Amino acid sequence: MAARKIIIDTDPGQDDAVAILLALASPDEIEVLGITAVAGNVPLPLTARNARIVCELAGRPDIPVFAGCAAPLARPLVTAEHVHGKTGLDGPELPDPTMPLQDRHAVDFIVQTLRAEPAGTVTLCPLGPLTNLAQAFRNAPDIIERVQEIVLMGGAYFEVGNITPTAEFNIYVDPEAAAEIFSAGVPLTVMPLDVTHKALVTAARNRAFRELGTPVGRAVAEMTDFFERFDKEKYGSSGAPLHDPCVTAWLIRPDLFSGRHINVEIETGSALTLGMTVADWWRVTDRPANATFMGDIDADGFFALLTERLARL
Ligand code: RIB
Ligand code: CA
Repeated sequence: MAARKIIIDTDPGQDDAVAILLALASPDEIEVLGITAVAGNVPLPLTARNARIVCELAGRPDIPVFAGCAAPLARPLVTAEHVHGKTGLDGPELPDPTMPLQDRHAVDFIVQTLRAEPAGTVTLCPLGPLTNLAQAFRNAPDIIERVQEIVLMGGAYFEVGNITPTAEFNIYVDPEAAAEIFSAGVPLTVMPLDVTHKALVTAARNRAFRELGTPVGRAVAEMTDFFERFDKEKYGSSGAPLHDPCVTAWLIRPDLFSGRHINVEIETGSALTLGMTVADWWRVTDRPANATFMGDIDADGFFALLTERLARL
């Protein structure tokens, strides 16, 4: 079967970095047409820098990287240096990128790629706030029906919030963008905290990365060593939750995940619950289903896949 063509929209972030590495290590299943950076975990200049650092770590300086929106559609930017460190990629010592940033704006790349590729053949994989995608849909509504699928990391139901008591970070940073994406009518698969909090880098799993004995294995071990602190302290977790790699792992092995096709709406009005993904998991409303919302993961299978693929880089 031909590899799935994707655009990764990202705010690296150590977990974004692992998701990108997994995609680049899986050319039989995934063809990365480009990487678009968005402001999120850290400001845009850093996410655009970090995306290129990760491409060069993977030995893929040929991947075009574009800078996108520096702030949410309608709100000031909220960042997460408290989780990811001041560079967004704290942990390993990695060299500054030498590959250039593309001149085109990320939003223009998304629009032009969807217009150029055959309809229904490009999947969008947002790993951060949904600003770039929502701006692209606003600028060019004609591309919406041309998107094959959106597979994103964001939201939460049973796990509730990680940045506020009720909201997950990616959705919280740009709830207006999220509301527009969730109501656009594009087939949508969602990896919420309900799943990603079950994909924890335990000491044994971290050791397996390190024992790959490669620059990639060492860097991933050091990244997850760094960014586990927040979740260990807050949740008492047994390791860093690999949020974003759930997206690229699903593209390769969807059987590792299970969920429900349900209605998911985004809270944009209430200051108390802003950015909450109101998931009708128990189907108590007659609101139409708009998303496949994941609820469980085969964590051992996920880490076996991830470790095997990282070994290829
Ligand atoms: O809430 C977790 C999400 O927010 C992940 O995508 C992480 O990288 C941050 O962007
Ligand atoms: Ca992210």
